[in-house]
Amino acid sequence: MPWLKRYGQFTVLELKTASQKKLITEIVKIAHISDLHISGRQDRRQLSNLDRLFAHFNIAGFDHLVISGDLSNSASPEDWRLVREKLESHGLYHWDKTTVIAGNHDLINLEEELRFYNALNPLPMLRKKSFDRKMAEFCAYFQELITGEERGDNAFPFVKIINYPSVKIAFVALNSVYPWYPADNPLGARGVINPGQLRALSCDSVLAPLRACFVIGLCHHAYRVYGTDSLIDQAFDWTMELKNREEFLVLLQAMQAKLVLHGHFHRFQSYMVSGITFINGGSFRYTPQRYSELLVDGQESCNQKFVMLA
Ligand SMILES: [Fe+2]
Ligand SMILES: [Fe+2]
Repeated sequence: MPWLKRYGQFTVLELKTASQKKLITEIVKIAHISDLHISGRQDRRQLSNLDRLFAHFNIAGFDHLVISGDLSNSASPEDWRLVREKLESHGLYHWDKTTVIAGNHDLINLEEELRFYNALNPLPMLRKKSFDRKMAEFCAYFQELITGEERGDNAFPFVKIINYPSVKIAFVALNSVYPWYPADNPLGARGVINPGQLRALSCDSVLAPLRACFVIGLCHHAYRVYGTDSLIDQAFDWTMELKNREEFLVLLQAMQAKLVLHGHFHRFQSYMVSGITFINGGSFRYTPQRYSELLVDGQESCNQKFVMLA
């Protein structure tokens, strides 16, 4: 059982010894995928691609899998169920084997938001409550992969520390999905890290244990804005951006994070910002045979590459 610490509004879970079921070599192997956009049981091809990828992760001896959001295409718990079933059937549905975070497509159904808004013109607070309920539902559904224990209904931010024989890895997961608002987030795709999460992770009682770890930040939205001078691109960026990315960067620096894994832009890409490597895990939906591989060694150095299945 993971060892549990509570820090105010969120939890840090630490596994004292990494999974005994599997021989873990000196190098820790992490697979990262994103933006699955699962679209129901009838899309058999998508699900068999997921089977193929998960089977490969086991054969290739990965120690941990990160899925950085947009598991569902339409905020449907039925799609979450399909991902969970596939993880379970490959023995990956364990706290120390897999970490998931939510994306905007897991929490916001744009059609539903517009329908409510046009029909009822509801108070923004009501829609925010509905967003919070959806987030709690996601966290409760995946509690085994988030906090690993019963208290899984409102988990963000969370810190998962796994003691591998050669390196102690801390996954620090933040929710970056911003609720739908008609003027400020009309497509539901803008992101924000709310002040409560920034505060919770900035306190000394959290930063101190992280100093002994190789810290990997997780969120759904990208730091990088991809725009060009074209007004259309700038407008697109506005609808997709992480609003307070500079505040997020300050936190990452305080945590001495080495890496951030994210998705959202459906591009397989890595880039560096102020000494921190950001890896965009692309999209399983559009390129189901590609994923990101991270190798972390005992000297806390990391190699990353995108791998294409044959
Ligand atoms: Fe996506
Ligand atoms: Fe997204």
